[in-house]
Amino acid sequence: MKIHEAKTEHIWIIQSLSSRVWPHTFREILSEQQIAYMMDMMYSDQALENQMKELNHHYLLVEEQGEYLGYVSYELDYKGKPWTKVHKIYVLPSTQGKGVGRLFIEAVGKIAKEYGNLELSLNVNRYNKAVDFYKRMGFEIIGNEDIDIGNGFLMEDFILNKKL
Ligand SMILES: CC(C)(COP(=O)(O)OP(=O)(O)OC[C@H]1O[C@@H](n2cnc3c(N)ncnc32)[C@H](O)[C@@H]1OP(=O)(O)O)[C@@H](O)C(=O)NCCC(=O)NCCS
Repeated sequence: MKIHEAKTEHIWIIQSLSSRVWPHTFREILSEQQIAYMMDMMYSDQALENQMKELNHHYLLVEEQGEYLGYVSYELDYKGKPWTKVHKIYVLPSTQGKGVGRLFIEAVGKIAKEYGNLELSLNVNRYNKAVDFYKRMGFEIIGNEDIDIGNGFLMEDFILNKKL
């Protein structure tokens, strides 16, 4: 498995992966309408370009034998603090449980630590079983957050962090 940094020319790969992972992950947690709304908000060409060019989100892809298996995005110095925010981490359903998620968290943790950040921070839906993955990776729940994302939709999240 290899990790590649994704740039704007790789946006189509992120979109292709998200369209396969997102509905699978959230079909029992969110309505179809909310999934479509959030995917447009986070994965349109414009949204991804904005994240990469203006918001300093870095994207990594894992590839094996020419096939892309997942992506992670992160932001150093989140909100001016010495924290790295993991914005997204998604692995294809057929590849989950085979170490890609661990590879991503370890890679981002290493980059963040070398940069000088002290913690990884992230939000996860409170009903997502990924919460247990994060605990396994050494994260702790430090709070709850309900975020109004418009159109009557809410993100019901835990906030987690991991000291580096
Ligand atoms: C959550 C996700 C990123 C984890 O990646 P993954 O490649 O499946 O996880 P890994 O195989 O690297 O697992 C790493 C460790 O966590 C454990 N783990 C993984 N998923 C787990 C779960 N749901 N519950 C408990 N432990 C879990 C593994 O057993 C493994 O432990 P070990 O290395 O000590 O043996 C991936 O499953 C995924 O993309 N899920 C759907 C999308 C999602 O929910 N993303 C998070 C949004 S906030």
